[in-house]
Amino acid sequence: MLRTIFIKILFLVPLFGFSQDLLINTTNRNTTTLNGTWHYIVDPYETGYYNYRYEAFDQLEKEDWSAFYINYHAKDKMERVEYDFDKSPTLTVPGDWNSQQEKLFYYEGTVWYKKSFDYQLVNDNNRLFVYFGAINYKAEVYLNGTKLGTHEGGFTPFNFEVTSIVKPKDNYLVVKVDNKRFKEAIPTINTDWWNYGGITRDVKLIEEPSTFIQDYNIQLKKGGKNTITGSVRLNNADVDEKVTISIPELKINKIFSANKEGNIQFEFISKKIKYWSPSSPKLYDVFLKTKYQTLKDEIGFRTIVTNGPNILLNGKSIFLRGICIHEENAMRGGRAYNEADALVALNWAKELGCNYVRLAHYPHNEHIVKLADKMGIMVWEEIPVYWTVDFTNEVTLKNAKNQLTEAVSRDKNRASIIIWSMANETPISEPRNTFLKELIVHTKSMDTTRLISAALEKHNIDGVNIVDDEIGQYMDIVAFNQYTGWYGGSLENAPDAKWSIKYNKPVVISEFGGGALQGLHGTIKERWTEEYQEYLYQQNLKMIEKIPNIRGTSPWILNDFRSPKRVLPVIQDGWNRKGLISNHGIKKKAFFTVKEFYIKMAQKYK
Ligand code: GCU
Repeated sequence: MLRTIFIKILFLVPLFGFSQDLLINTTNRNTTTLNGTWHYIVDPYETGYYNYRYEAFDQLEKEDWSAFYINYHAKDKMERVEYDFDKSPTLTVPGDWNSQQEKLFYYEGTVWYKKSFDYQLVNDNNRLFVYFGAINYKAEVYLNGTKLGTHEGGFTPFNFEVTSIVKPKDNYLVVKVDNKRFKEAIPTINTDWWNYGGITRDVKLIEEPSTFIQDYNIQLKKGGKNTITGSVRLNNADVDEKVTISIPELKINKIFSANKEGNIQFEFISKKIKYWSPSSPKLYDVFLKTKYQTLKDEIGFRTIVTNGPNILLNGKSIFLRGICIHEENAMRGGRAYNEADALVALNWAKELGCNYVRLAHYPHNEHIVKLADKMGIMVWEEIPVYWTVDFTNEVTLKNAKNQLTEAVSRDKNRASIIIWSMANETPISEPRNTFLKELIVHTKSMDTTRLISAALEKHNIDGVNIVDDEIGQYMDIVAFNQYTGWYGGSLENAPDAKWSIKYNKPVVISEFGGGALQGLHGTIKERWTEEYQEYLYQQNLKMIEKIPNIRGTSPWILNDFRSPKRVLPVIQDGWNRKGLISNHGIKKKAFFTVKEFYIKMAQKYK
């Protein structure tokens, strides 16, 4: 018994993604993709992880490993082994398993993945990392039988160093993916989207020099239109390391000495900066150089602040002409994961007349965020603190903070991201307010330059729509979802609706809308017809335009998306039909209602 307890302590793996510091800007690093065909084994009873006494194999000594343990390899053919990856079927990575295998469509549980690869370090002194864009929901990662660690959270990246484990030949990377929902998770057990499981984003090996550029932050100084400020952090720095920062187009090229921790801070003054904006999404080539490597990024410089009811981008008041987007390629009916998927979504948003998108309800993949930088589309990025999260649970709070840390770490150099969202439609309570305040403080400890918001709660007293959610006092933007004409409320009277909003801050309607089956036609009174949805949008937009301090909206939602909650035969059949575009990519009549409204708002905020 003592031995087992001791072993447990020895192998105790931290609960959350304590993968080492996140490697950012991985597309511009020295990478080898592990995307492609992976073998998989479906393991609903987690036989490959727990013995019959429900003890986790990877916390036991090797001699206690048995024929089921996924990292157990028979010493000789006579030994009993009850699995074989190489004879098992395959899945494509990245990609959810639900949309790849009919038998896994509704599956929630464990799937084991295995990828074999050879790898020869370019230089023996170099270091090697394995990087995952995201795994939904919980991952246990092993390389050549050694446990690298655990990560929890389905929408943010993580990496592990594997320098001392990787071999030139026959490496085998094994990942246990478990997408079971549970009360204490983020998101919690109840969501209105499909619980796509799997290695849902890119997987890559990243080779770095022994001393490498771990992290950096480069942007306009808050309140300083001509000051570029930033920091760089080296990993494994020697004394007096030099870092050169250059932005050739601004004739900036300066060498800095790192302190003993390998950090530098800097500021540059330039009166020639062309600011990033939707109409002119200027990105500068930025080079970070050490004697070991040169890392390039493309960074836009802009300011985003609020002043009373106004949102000021580069000092100019703007209106957020938005749309909500789930990370799903509706035509494929699965998780979106590459640049092509991102292009489909953002081109539709552009066609709609958007200058802004709300990436609901979780951080999307890095392709869409980088594309938004290039296309000049501002972004609301959100962590899935959605509905009835376990607000009294410290572990849940730690998980939410970790997801924020990973999202902010990955995207802090993206000009397109203007809003970090803490939550969506969370029921008001003291524990919920405390939880959200913790998230706000945590976010601001990492980034003071972007706006903070969340989809807050509203209520109605004597026919007056009231927004006085206490947490609103800590938000830069007061955002809320309202579904007049769909979940109650009169469409006919909508344009005359009364609103009372407690805060003199910018107001953004973070969701409104209603469902329609594309191609179903009838009168404006007939729910589920395109005409009903069109009329709903006409009436809501007339109302929204009159709401005090209104500075933006992001209708729910760009296109129909899968949800297990939407089961009305013929009409829904497992799809949430609030899209302005169907899951076949066909625009509904309401699409053009919004498009017309955004032309008007673009003129008004010229
Ligand atoms: C909510 C929620 C969405 C959901 C939508 C709906 O506001 O934020 O995630 O899909 O309403 O009911 O369709």
